[in-house]
Amino acid sequence: MKPELNHKLKTIRHDYSINQLSEDIVEKDPLKQFDSWLHEAFEKGDEMANAFILSTVNEFSIPSSRVVLLRDLSHGGFTFFTNYSSHKGQDMKKNKTVSILFFWKELQRQVRVEGLVQFLSETESSIYFQSRPRESQLAALASKQSKIISSRNVLENEFLKLCDLYKDKNIPKPSHWGGYVLVPSKIEFWQGRESRLHDRIQYTFENNLWKITRLAP
Ligand SMILES: Cc1cc2nc3c(=O)[nH]c(=O)nc-3n(C[C@H](O)[C@H](O)[C@H](O)COP(=O)(O)O)c2cc1C
Repeated sequence: MKPELNHKLKTIRHDYSINQLSEDIVEKDPLKQFDSWLHEAFEKGDEMANAFILSTVNEFSIPSSRVVLLRDLSHGGFTFFTNYSSHKGQDMKKNKTVSILFFWKELQRQVRVEGLVQFLSETESSIYFQSRPRESQLAALASKQSKIISSRNVLENEFLKLCDLYKDKNIPKPSHWGGYVLVPSKIEFWQGRESRLHDRIQYTFENNLWKITRLAP
């Protein structure tokens, strides 16, 4: 590593002082609280505010993470779309417990969610698939997501072949592609504060109710 970069890593400091969060002001329902923070993140100009890190764990307890996009909040949880046969899809087949993380830099906020994933219905997945741009639909068909391919050409040739095949035709949703809903059992809202005395408000779902507690930073 270059010495300047090494120095930067050791000395860079940020001041967290633009917002605060307390038990008294948060919504009783964490999805409503999330909705309001997501809205603020978009308002602040973060065009990728719906991007989050999805962490899955496989049958051998090996975790893996990647970015995906939140597409809906109206099914009692966090809906995202992907290839069911991908690395993450294989993990979630064996282990439905996942963790997701949103980080909104400009607002000095993060939201951490844990829970179980369930499949979105085929009908809902198809409706969303049909709303996507044609290129995205064709890419979902062309890509065997997470599999090793010998070259980029293989992918592009498959894409062009499918372009021809579906010319002027409706593209059906492939069965290996669709949505998941992460139904949360725990959600933590983190707000950066002065002197590293950050606010952490946690919701846990107990006896059919959301319990609100504060965590030490
Ligand atoms: C900003 C951003 C958004 C992404 N959105 C998605 C998404 O919604 N669905 C998806 O399957 N992959 C998405 N990806 C790609 C994933 O991060 C990942 O590379 C891919 O899903 C394969 O992951 P896996 O091999 O762990 O299954 C996105 C990547 C980035 C950087």
